[in-house]
Amino acid sequence: MYALITGASSGIGREIARLLAARRVDLILVARRVEQLEELKVELGGAYGVNVVVKPVDLSIRDNCVKLHWECLEYDPKIVVNNAGFGRVGTFAEHDLAGDLAMLDTNVAAVHILTKLFVQSMGEGKIMNVASMAGFLPTPLLAAYAATKAYVHHLGTAIDYELQKAKKPIRVLTLCPGPVHTEFGAVAGARTALPGMSAERCAKIAVRGLYRNRRVILPGFMMRLTRFFLRFLPLKAVLSTAYAIQKKK
Ligand SMILES: NC(=O)c1ccc[n+]([C@@H]2O[C@H](COP(=O)([O-])OP(=O)(O)OC[C@H]3O[C@@H](n4cnc5c(N)ncnc54)[C@H](OP(=O)(O)O)[C@@H]3O)[C@@H](O)[C@H]2O)c1
Repeated sequence: MYALITGASSGIGREIARLLAARRVDLILVARRVEQLEELKVELGGAYGVNVVVKPVDLSIRDNCVKLHWECLEYDPKIVVNNAGFGRVGTFAEHDLAGDLAMLDTNVAAVHILTKLFVQSMGEGKIMNVASMAGFLPTPLLAAYAATKAYVHHLGTAIDYELQKAKKPIRVLTLCPGPVHTEFGAVAGARTALPGMSAERCAKIAVRGLYRNRRVILPGFMMRLTRFFLRFLPLKAVLSTAYAIQKKK
């Protein structure tokens, strides 16, 4: 059985790949940096004897996402992890439009396209989309990124409900990590403002949630607690707290 993992060249995606390989799942690894993917292929093929297919793809280009789905059909993946994504810290006004649109294409359009095409083509299986805790709240200084993750969260949870109502053997699960130590901060142009968890631990919780069919996976007790209390906080308090945290970055 194959699993497709996007954003497998580093961070959470790479750790999910390692854990699935340990469960003897064959892999299709996607990202732009082919050297990292090839290294992971050698590591996982050697350690676990799994088949690993490397696909260097820029997912910010919509046609590439459609082509990727088409190319993956021959492997019939039963697990799809839409993990590739990035953030941009700073004011909405200061960020250039082209960069914002590249983020929307990677975090939203690519996830939408691959979720749509695999829901339509896979007879049975699981799709896990990686959103973020930031998707639960409007986040000043991370506004567009948080909005992309709100999209991923709302899309996935609603589709999962639709599929269950229709008694389809396909699940769409959503992983919502808090801060995780990966390349994310450097790419986003941010320093760490909150204590985070390791990518290994986040991936472990993600894979456990995947196998247990958790519709929304919140890695760590603190994140579950935060999510719970967020429901009761007035919007102004949410905004000022989020602003203070992002400003530290
Ligand atoms: N780290 C956190 O604190 C945190 C918290 C909540 C949610 N998340 C989410 O978790 C996911 C994984 O991020 P991470 O923390 O593991 O960060 P990361 O180490 O920077 O990994 C991001 C991955 O996405 C890939 N990627 C980015 N743009 C791409 C593109 N245009 N086409 C193909 N692949 C692309 C990167 O590969 P290449 O550069 O090789 O293309 C890399 O493999 C993201 O969706 C992120 O938003 C992270």
